[in-house]
Amino acid sequence: MEKKRHTFSGGLGFVLAAAGSAVGLGNIWRFPYLAAKHGGGIFLLVYIVLVFTFGYSLMTAENAIGRRSGKSSLDAFASLNKKWGFVGIIATVIPCIILPYYDVIGGWVLRYFLAYITGGAAQAAGDTYFTDMLGSPMVLLIGQTVFTLLVVLVLLRGVQKGVERVSVILMPILVLLAIGISIYSITLPGAIEGVKYFFIPNFEHFSISSVLAAMGQMFYSLSLAMGIMIAYGSYLPKDSPLEKNVSRIELFDTLIAVIAGLMIIPAVFAFSDGDSSALNKGPGLMFQTLPKVFNDMPMSNIIGAAFFFLVFAAALTSAISIMETIVACVCDHFGIARTKAIMIVGVAAWLVSFLPALGYSVLSDVKILKFDILDFMDFITNAVLMPICAFLVCMFVTFGIGTKVIEDEVCISGSFKRKRLFEVMIKFIAPVFVCAILVSSVLESFGVIAF
Ligand code: PHE
Repeated sequence: MEKKRHTFSGGLGFVLAAAGSAVGLGNIWRFPYLAAKHGGGIFLLVYIVLVFTFGYSLMTAENAIGRRSGKSSLDAFASLNKKWGFVGIIATVIPCIILPYYDVIGGWVLRYFLAYITGGAAQAAGDTYFTDMLGSPMVLLIGQTVFTLLVVLVLLRGVQKGVERVSVILMPILVLLAIGISIYSITLPGAIEGVKYFFIPNFEHFSISSVLAAMGQMFYSLSLAMGIMIAYGSYLPKDSPLEKNVSRIELFDTLIAVIAGLMIIPAVFAFSDGDSSALNKGPGLMFQTLPKVFNDMPMSNIIGAAFFFLVFAAALTSAISIMETIVACVCDHFGIARTKAIMIVGVAAWLVSFLPALGYSVLSDVKILKFDILDFMDFITNAVLMPICAFLVCMFVTFGIGTKVIEDEVCISGSFKRKRLFEVMIKFIAPVFVCAILVSSVLESFGVIAF
């Protein structure tokens, strides 16, 4: 018996769920740093142009592939053209590698949130708090277990009642918290220097590598090339306007990135007396620098708790989208019932997540290339597999099915105003740039160039 596919309730539900996926750690711990480092206002401008041209084309293609095929990434490509099924395999391997380590980071976030709501701002700001946490397997295992369990519980409620509803509740809370904290941050003494650094264009800090950094960031931030937007597209009702939805998701994601910049950069500047080198990226910024910044503020526990709740909301909705993508693939491909698929994927992700979690303690001798286990999982997906996948998506659309199939799918539910732009991007510009991202991100990971 053919079962009816789950769907989102419509435009808003889809947009918020997809935005929930897009708004994640990338917006909070990477975007502010990159923007500040690469020339402030000029980086912002380039980023926005890239989002609405390059990002827009790839997201439209992925959503349309999903909706057209009615399948998640593993089967979507083969169902539209048998010879291109291998792209589906690559697109599905990516979320399978990301999920376990994302669960681990989700656990770190929960640990910090707990620290702040129990009045631990001073401890969290301690020099060794973060490294002590990484070296405590039990703390990590509890954190990632709770986080994985939360994701599983949401998925069990279904696409509309679980995935969509959580985003509809958490995204507005996230926006309010981000605006509140950024107002607080901007009004700290000395903070205005940070605002200037973030917004005023500085051409000296801008170069071709800035463009590549903006492109790599955009691509990760919009959750492209990891099967997610294909799975979500397959849940999109046929009458919901695809082009408009894509623009809204992009706008939302970019706004949150800018607000995150306003939340973080002025506060770090105020704390460090305008020293821009205090601004770093990745876990160092979020788990080491910011706790020190918070500890210096009045109401440090409240601000810290609000901030880590916001990060938790961002991480949870992103993790939900990755697990949902894998579950959809398992259901579609093996014809397994959803509940069973969620259990299998949840337990597998939980077990595999022991590896990245223990990579800093029991398994600290295990290095792949030169990376710890978690860093390697991040490197192989972000720097290598995702650009390859994006390149193959462009090739698939151009040679595998033809751009017309995508255009027809978009036009079912409204206009396709940027059709010409889409064609030029997918056929010519995106493939070249994606190859440039691949080369530059691998070189960056090995320290040959620095972003
Ligand atoms: N778009 C997310 C971000 O900006 C990245 C992401 C989403 C990663 C989903 C994994 C899964 O952080």
